[in-house]
Amino acid sequence: MKIAVLRETAEGERRVAATPETVKKFVALGASVAVEAGAGSTASITDADYAAAGASVADRGSTLAGADIVLGVQGPDAASLAGTTSGAWLVAALNPFADRARIDGYATAGIEALAMEFMPRITRAQSMDILSSQSNLAGYKAVLDAAAAYGRAFPMMMTAAGTISAARVFVMGVGVAGLQAIATARRLGAQVSATDVRAATREQIQSLGAKPIFVEKVAGIEGEGSGGYAGEMSPEYQAAQAELVSGHIAKQDIVITTALIPGRPAPRLISAAQVASMRPGSVIVDLAVESGGNVEGSVVGEVVVVNGVSIVGHRNVPSRLAADASALFSRNLFNFLSAFWDKEQGKPVLDAEIGDAIRLTQGGKIVNARLLG
Ligand code: NAI
Repeated sequence: MKIAVLRETAEGERRVAATPETVKKFVALGASVAVEAGAGSTASITDADYAAAGASVADRGSTLAGADIVLGVQGPDAASLAGTTSGAWLVAALNPFADRARIDGYATAGIEALAMEFMPRITRAQSMDILSSQSNLAGYKAVLDAAAAYGRAFPMMMTAAGTISAARVFVMGVGVAGLQAIATARRLGAQVSATDVRAATREQIQSLGAKPIFVEKVAGIEGEGSGGYAGEMSPEYQAAQAELVSGHIAKQDIVITTALIPGRPAPRLISAAQVASMRPGSVIVDLAVESGGNVEGSVVGEVVVVNGVSIVGHRNVPSRLAADASALFSRNLFNFLSAFWDKEQGKPVLDAEIGDAIRLTQGGKIVNARLLG
């Protein structure tokens, strides 16, 4: 059983799909691990670190030669995976809806592609959930990015030269990223409020010491779709939300938006008029920018300044914390593969609940219900 770890090729991708820690653990399971030279360099891991952990470090061709499992952060094109065994697994974040042509390429090449972002949100798969591990770091980094772009301090400070008031931070979307954003902004001393469409988040917001801002008395406010994710809200709800949020946003210094709806474009939460209502010097961080954006005027990969308000739209925010993001991503992959490791066969054997959820291609065909449906 040979596991290959690739150097990422996507623009701006600094993470890596295995660390010396997980390499050591795979070796302990009986696998051999090959790492493409330089794979860890942008995540502060040297080739020597991988070699010391028991990996062979080589060029891409030798890394892939005879590999049974290829680990990646993002999915490489099928053409760049030549040399693996037939039916080799590719385990990575494969962005299945947006990158369909690439997925078709895996089928044609006979690769069995496993999309880690399709991991079901069930208790036993929590330690394999890349969406959670990466969103948590993104929520933290969003607050630091906001603080860096903000020309004022976060905490209230009483100094001999006078008092500085605490920054007001509003977090929109209180999933994994939003909860970490609230906690981080609170640690920095901000006065924090937050909103979500899922009623269950109200208590979570309060337990972190922030103020919940919620639409009341409108039909369908539960907001809970399947699997703990949000559903799309009624027009009535959206109008009530826009009105409530308008009054609140005008008084905020920092807004962090994190709202996503699986398989759909991100919901638009902030209009250009609402941006214009904020004080110059305010900062908005749109963590959903790559999924269509929660904020009107946010641009992928850019910081746009509109009427003195900075709208931050960094791409791939977890990659901006490449070392920690890689450590957690790598553990997610190891937790997944090791949970299914069959000692006798010396390889992982998936069960139907998880296998069917994440397997995109098999035997030359697309096999995933979410892609076929
Ligand atoms: P997500 O990334 O899909 O969305 C982020 C947040 O945006 C969600 O809280 C969502 O309700 C909110 N949102 C969507 N539309 C909105 C709108 N119009 N206005 C305001 N907010 C809006 O969600 P994420 O972070 O992946 O987590 C979703 C849920 O799944 C959470 O309850 C989380 O605790 C749960 N979860 C469960 C896991 C498990 O059981 N294994 C693992 C990870 C998360």
